[in-house]
Amino acid sequence: MTVPQPDLQPVRPLGTEERAPMVLALPKGRILKAVTPLLKQAGLAPSDDCLGDNSRKLRFPTQDPCVDVVRVRSFDVATFVASGGAQVGICGADVLMEFDYPEIYAPLDLGIGACRISIAQPNTLPHDPAEWARWSEVRAATKYPAVTRRYFAARGINANIVHLHGAMELAPMLGLSRLIVDLVDTGSTLRANGLREVETIAHVTSRLIVNRTALKTRPEEISAIINSFRTALEANA
Ligand code: PRP
Ligand code: MG
Repeated sequence: MTVPQPDLQPVRPLGTEERAPMVLALPKGRILKAVTPLLKQAGLAPSDDCLGDNSRKLRFPTQDPCVDVVRVRSFDVATFVASGGAQVGICGADVLMEFDYPEIYAPLDLGIGACRISIAQPNTLPHDPAEWARWSEVRAATKYPAVTRRYFAARGINANIVHLHGAMELAPMLGLSRLIVDLVDTGSTLRANGLREVETIAHVTSRLIVNRTALKTRPEEISAIINSFRTALEANA
């Protein structure tokens, strides 16, 4: 009787294994549109369906056969890169301030997506810094709980956070909080919702970010990506 043999795969000699493409995580929405010209200059333009709104795909090839792009929420760019699922990414300094992941190295300021993290409150409330100095507590709605707590703690104020993921402009008018802490670009969302900016916490631009382990295990490929962004930035300077 013949014994069935296992279906053995040919073994590749060590060192000849094909490398999986590098993964570049990009934030969907306005930053993706703003970063597209830079991606083209860096030779990393994703396929057209990445930039349109019709595709339900989340992973796309780029001009470079060794690099794929994934399209995720801006906060999740940092999580994908910190975990090593993506080796590189582009995300706002706001996200890095919120998470402060030790696994992430941010070698380049891309100078795009300029905006600020600010405190805003209803137009109807006065803004008196001397009054703030007397507060011990404040309730704030935000998608940046860590940034908000840190900012107020440095002023001796305990921030009670209402953690929202969007549309926090609604929180004061619906009685959830006195203040909001959110990104401000043109200011039109605040104006449209009866709010005004009263303090700026930080100015924000988008950064190229890298997983520190990938920098050690795939140094040539990571350096090539960093250098292609650096060259594209210098060409625009
Ligand atoms: C962002 C941010 C503000 C707005 C600021 O919201 O949270 O609401 O943009 O831009 P502006 O100053 O130019 O009006 P986004 O549209 O990304 O939606 P979300 O907060 O619901 O995620
Ligand atoms: Mg918003």
